[in-house]
Amino acid sequence: MNHSTKKIVIAVDGFSSCGKSTMAKDLAKAIGYIYIDSGAMYRAVTLFALRRNLFLADGQVNEEQLRAELPEIRITFVLNQEQRPETYLNGENVEKEIRGLEVSSRVSRIAALDFVRAELVHQQQLMGQEKGIIMDGRDIGTCVFPNAELKIFVTASAEIRAQRRYDELTAKGEKVNFEEILHNVQERDRIDMTRAVSPLRKADDALELDNSHLTPEQQKEWLLKQYNRVIAAL
Ligand code: DC
Repeated sequence: MNHSTKKIVIAVDGFSSCGKSTMAKDLAKAIGYIYIDSGAMYRAVTLFALRRNLFLADGQVNEEQLRAELPEIRITFVLNQEQRPETYLNGENVEKEIRGLEVSSRVSRIAALDFVRAELVHQQQLMGQEKGIIMDGRDIGTCVFPNAELKIFVTASAEIRAQRRYDELTAKGEKVNFEEILHNVQERDRIDMTRAVSPLRKADDALELDNSHLTPEQQKEWLLKQYNRVIAAL
């Protein structure tokens, strides 16, 4: 493929488990861009907090301690043999562990902390300095890259997202309960949308994509079309 020499920043935001990362990864591969999963960074901080026993019995976070230990956290992404990025926490591959229910059920608390967000947003902005990057998350188009040339906001119903997550975890051999996953998805939506710092919302200039009834292939095509349109107009 003849990659354009014009490089842009692509921001993909939306609810949890709505297929953002699959479409973002596919596009990155097709156009030779760097793909960054910003949610993995919040998950890695959550795993760090779990390991350091920074969650109190009531689910709250020991904020003072986490703030003090935050400089010890180094998050990187390394491509595996299939050229897929995997998340590393202080040099250890934690890709599998950060996707489990233990981290998933606590990550919203961590993502609601202003000092955690400030640090991760700063790191994300450094990653995008050279452009040629596609990043997915919740606040990429509104906060991390407000000047991104292409912004996408993805939605799908909670039931459909829970089913996708259920299928994904079951395929990995995890024994999970659909109702529990649906509850987890709805709870994360609620916390993501109502938190005080950078709540999930569509940027005014983002294109909305409801993918409830689209196949990954159809989404991929749609996204590539948007990318080509923006590049052609530069
Ligand atoms: O996309 P995900 O489900 O892996 O995200 C994990 C959590 O991190 C989710 O609760 C939302 C939060 N998050 C965020 O607040 N900001 C981002 N840019 C990415 C994720």
